[in-house]
Amino acid sequence: MSFKIEGQNVFLRILRKSDTSSLIRITNDNDTLKFMSLHCPFALKHARALVSNAQKGLKNNSSYDFGIFLKNNKLLVGVIRLMNINKINKNCEVGFWIGKEYQNNGYSKEALKLVLNFGFKRLILFRISAKIMHLNTTSVNLVEKFGFKQEGRMRNAILKNGKWIDGLIYGLLRDEYKREVTA
Ligand SMILES: CC(C)(COP(=O)(O)OP(=O)(O)OC[C@H]1O[C@@H](n2cnc3c(N)ncnc32)[C@H](O)[C@@H]1OP(=O)(O)O)[C@@H](O)C(=O)NCCC(=O)NCCS
Repeated sequence: MSFKIEGQNVFLRILRKSDTSSLIRITNDNDTLKFMSLHCPFALKHARALVSNAQKGLKNNSSYDFGIFLKNNKLLVGVIRLMNINKINKNCEVGFWIGKEYQNNGYSKEALKLVLNFGFKRLILFRISAKIMHLNTTSVNLVEKFGFKQEGRMRNAILKNGKWIDGLIYGLLRDEYKREVTA
């Protein structure tokens, strides 16, 4: 099963087997993974696990792991995931990345807008959260644009390249969602 969410410059569809090598291409890079819990090298087995989780999550309605594709040439440029969907409490977590060479083109802004619309309107969620590593100002700027508020800070929550890093918890409630953000 698969479906497509169309934006102006990008479309989202659930990751599948044929995306494996493109996933490695956009993910296996130290700069891109600097603020993520994934590590370099991001190899075939990691890409396969990501695809397998995407397919399982879709089957169980527990996650939607979308590839972000350019509309003009169908190239995979990033990933955006609605994870840990809690149907009782109507919430989930969002995570995303864009391959280094495709960053700063507005793709994640557009993709985030699409998944927030999907989460709040189609899945009728009431809360979407994001865990962002301290000093990841790009991601903080991005989520704050959509009205996410910082709700907490987990001290020394992540061990990255031998260093302890604080994790920032951001949350967006359905009523706060700023639909007027232009992507
Ligand atoms: C964070 C990330 C997804 C942003 O993707 P992107 O497609 O380059 O971002 P966009 O071009 O859509 O820009 C969206 C917003 O991010 C912020 N932003 C982008 N580049 C920035 C920079 N160099 N410095 C500060 N803020 C920046 C801005 O608020 C921007 O909005 P604006 O253009 O209206 O000012 C991308 O940098 C990335 O993948 N980084 C590595 C992985 C990562 O950190 N993932 C998030 C884990 S929580």
